[in-house]
Amino acid sequence: MMEMAVLTTKGAQETEAIGEAVGSQLRVGDLVVLTGDLGAGKTTFAKGLARALGVTQRVTSPTFTIVQEYEGRVPVAHVDVYRLDRIQELHDLGFEELLEGRVTVVEWGEAIALVLPRERIDVRIAMDGAGDGDDDLRVVEIVATGPGWDDRRPALEAALAPFGDA
Ligand SMILES: Nc1ncnc2c1ncn2[C@@H]1O[C@H](COP(=O)(O)OP(=O)(O)O)[C@@H](O)[C@H]1O
Ligand SMILES: [Mg+2]
Repeated sequence: MMEMAVLTTKGAQETEAIGEAVGSQLRVGDLVVLTGDLGAGKTTFAKGLARALGVTQRVTSPTFTIVQEYEGRVPVAHVDVYRLDRIQELHDLGFEELLEGRVTVVEWGEAIALVLPRERIDVRIAMDGAGDGDDDLRVVEIVATGPGWDDRRPALEAALAPFGDA
């Protein structure tokens, strides 16, 4: 897996803006997997991502249903697997079918993304500053994997360039 972008954010707005930049590059069939501890900023990232896709509804973590669907320029499915038993639920739902016709964003609490298709963007959010007096600091790592991303990776990198440390 090739490393692509490691960005630092100092607040929720910045993380949301990065989500928006990634969202601007997405199209039907794409999958984005968000990994990070509770409170890391996965849903915050998803909000920006959905906004870039024309979603005007308020994006919140799906609580009662495993999948929350939003209407946008392209439909967005927001999946939250905060409990391990939801993996089975996801499987029963037919995950491959869900991916068709929409952009899918999955939030994970654990590093169990192995069961998901390889063709995807992984976003890992770490709360590096927490405890050191900077609770709002996050490190956001973004990696696009799979042959489908080979042609599109430069555009994604360009969209993320404004958030680099330079
Ligand atoms: N740099 C940051 N990026 C994202 N969220 C941040 C940041 N700093 C503080 N926060 C706060 O952390 C919380 C993240 O919540 P949320 O996005 O729901 O996390 P998760 O979905 O990973 O559990 C929000 O209350 C947000 O305001
Ligand atoms: Mg969440």
